[in-house]
Amino acid sequence: MFDYKIYEENLKSKVFGRSFKYFKKIKSTNGEAKNNLNAAHGHLIFTNNQTDGKGRRNNKWFSLPNKSLTFSIMLNKNEIINKDILPLLTSVAIVKAIKKKININCKIKWPNDIMLNDKKIGGVLIESKSNYYIVGVGLNINHQENEFNGNLSKIASSIYIHTKTKLKLEKLLANIVNEFELTIKKDKKNILEYWLDKCNHLNKSIKFHRKGKLVSGKFMGINKNGEALIKTNKKIISISSGVIY
Ligand code: BTN
Repeated sequence: MFDYKIYEENLKSKVFGRSFKYFKKIKSTNGEAKNNLNAAHGHLIFTNNQTDGKGRRNNKWFSLPNKSLTFSIMLNKNEIINKDILPLLTSVAIVKAIKKKININCKIKWPNDIMLNDKKIGGVLIESKSNYYIVGVGLNINHQENEFNGNLSKIASSIYIHTKTKLKLEKLLANIVNEFELTIKKDKKNILEYWLDKCNHLNKSIKFHRKGKLVSGKFMGINKNGEALIKTNKKIISISSGVIY
């Protein structure tokens, strides 16, 4: 069940999340967004039970009914500024909302993984279809430790594992939406500075894939387009997509 009252009481945005569709169960909120190409700017699709979630790089996104926050916001391409840093700014909005509402300091792994105690608690998948960017957000909220199986137990965590307090999904959802609407209007410099401050691997040794090989380097920061700056040997190179380890 979705508690509309809690959602509405907490929603302070003007546009984002005002047009809203709830699904008790759905394969993927991003997938549903793609069937909805007349939606209002800021239209939000939310489900309590996402059964076939998509992650970045064709991965699957693991969700648990009533414990994961899984939603997509549809942005009309003509209505937004800061398009080029949309992945980074979405992670900034999530981290800000979590800090404001539950006073937890999350970090960000380039470009937009939400990290807590060096484990991933959330991710963002942005897809483009027709005149929309579909911003899909998945966050592990109320999962217990034994609910992550196999490799996931080593790399994933949830807010509950850290706080031992169950959260109302509707409340956090509304607060992320509020923060997203505010952040998207901020100037780029301000957003990128915040991102860098929350980066969990600044000046650290990392690895990334380049031309089919795993390359080592040092993460030096981001440029004005949000690309990762990595020092390999004596050169600094920028990468615009991929995963860093
Ligand atoms: C990642 O791989 O880090 C991104 C995960 C994004 C998952 C979210 S959950 C809501 C939305 N719908 C999907 O199918 N995927 C995104």
